[in-house]
Amino acid sequence: MNALGRRIAAAIRQAGPISVATYMAAALGDPEHGYYTRRQPIGLSGDFITAPEVSQIFGELLGLWCAATWELMGRPPRAVLVELGPGRGTLMADALRAMAAVPAMCAAVEIHLVETSPTLRAVQAETLRGIPVRWCERLAEVPDAPLLLLANELFDALAVRQFQRGLTGWHERLIALTADGAGFRFVLSPLAVPESGMGAPVSVAGAPLQSIVEVCPGGLALAQEIGERVARAGGAALIVDYGTATTRLHETLQAVRRHGSHPVLAAPGEADLAAHVDFGALAAAARRAGAITLGPIEQGVFFGALGIAERLTALERGATPAQRAALRSGAARLTDPGQMGSLFKVLAIAHPALTDLPGLPRPC
Ligand SMILES: C[S@@+](CC[C@H](N)C(=O)[O-])C[C@H]1O[C@@H](n2cnc3c(N)ncnc32)[C@H](O)[C@@H]1O
Repeated sequence: MNALGRRIAAAIRQAGPISVATYMAAALGDPEHGYYTRRQPIGLSGDFITAPEVSQIFGELLGLWCAATWELMGRPPRAVLVELGPGRGTLMADALRAMAAVPAMCAAVEIHLVETSPTLRAVQAETLRGIPVRWCERLAEVPDAPLLLLANELFDALAVRQFQRGLTGWHERLIALTADGAGFRFVLSPLAVPESGMGAPVSVAGAPLQSIVEVCPGGLALAQEIGERVARAGGAALIVDYGTATTRLHETLQAVRRHGSHPVLAAPGEADLAAHVDFGALAAAARRAGAITLGPIEQGVFFGALGIAERLTALERGATPAQRAALRSGAARLTDPGQMGSLFKVLAIAHPALTDLPGLPRPC
């Protein structure tokens, strides 16, 4: 067992099995040994690759989306441009390069990066060298002003609780020690949990035996906070991630290391842990807070509507054959349904006046 595993094991010996959310939060965010605390895991030499690292067009089109949305907001003279979980800072760098086409907007926005990892903050500072950005730990620390917010693959990293349907009702899936104390295993809470205590986004009363439902309390709270902000101060947020439009009754928690699957309970802090995002639940939480929501729609459809083909053609002009091939394969990876185009979705949370946002269907 590694150092973080020994610490988690000691906590289980002292107080009993822990929730999946407690395990996931420690594995990703432990201040000493957490996965994101110590690593820069994104890229070919890391554990996984994300859309901004696949193609510069991803960040560029999101930057233009922000500029167009700022216009629709009535060109506020002061606004905050926020990114949640900025990784290597690539998305923000590409977005700002595209936004330079709208100097009045660049002059109006203060840039805030919400990032918990000191290691990734240092990488972001390097990527965004010379650009005035501020870092904070939580969205609540960002000044209350008209908001433009981007979050790519942040919500999948927020801890989920899991509940499993048994004969006597729903039981929380917990993590206990194996019989020899050398590893971890899943167990079920002995007592059933009332459905009202699960925080499930939809009624799961009719679910078949053995169904598993995942609930992401941190994600729902964040969607609610974003909803309250845009309803109060104006603006819009764009959440991009992999997941489903409605709540599904199966487990999606997975661990990834070196671009491959890894056992979820092995070597905590040494592999990425993530769960699919329930976009319907996020949207409902934001609407309850007074915002409107647009989408979710598939990433491929969204970028098609934003003009990825035209941007690709423009970039291909003057590119070498090798660069052209790389540009095309990057754009295809973002949009092909068999790659990232379908599993990844885009949801906007917006002030009720912003019913027509670029690339998104009007709210119904
Ligand atoms: C999967 S990476 C995505 C990075 C980037 N958005 C991209 O697309 O390349 C998740 C990012 O969220 C950050 N992160 C994880 N949990 C966080 C939290 N609770 N608050 C803010 N940032 C968090 C990580 O440090 C990392 O920067």
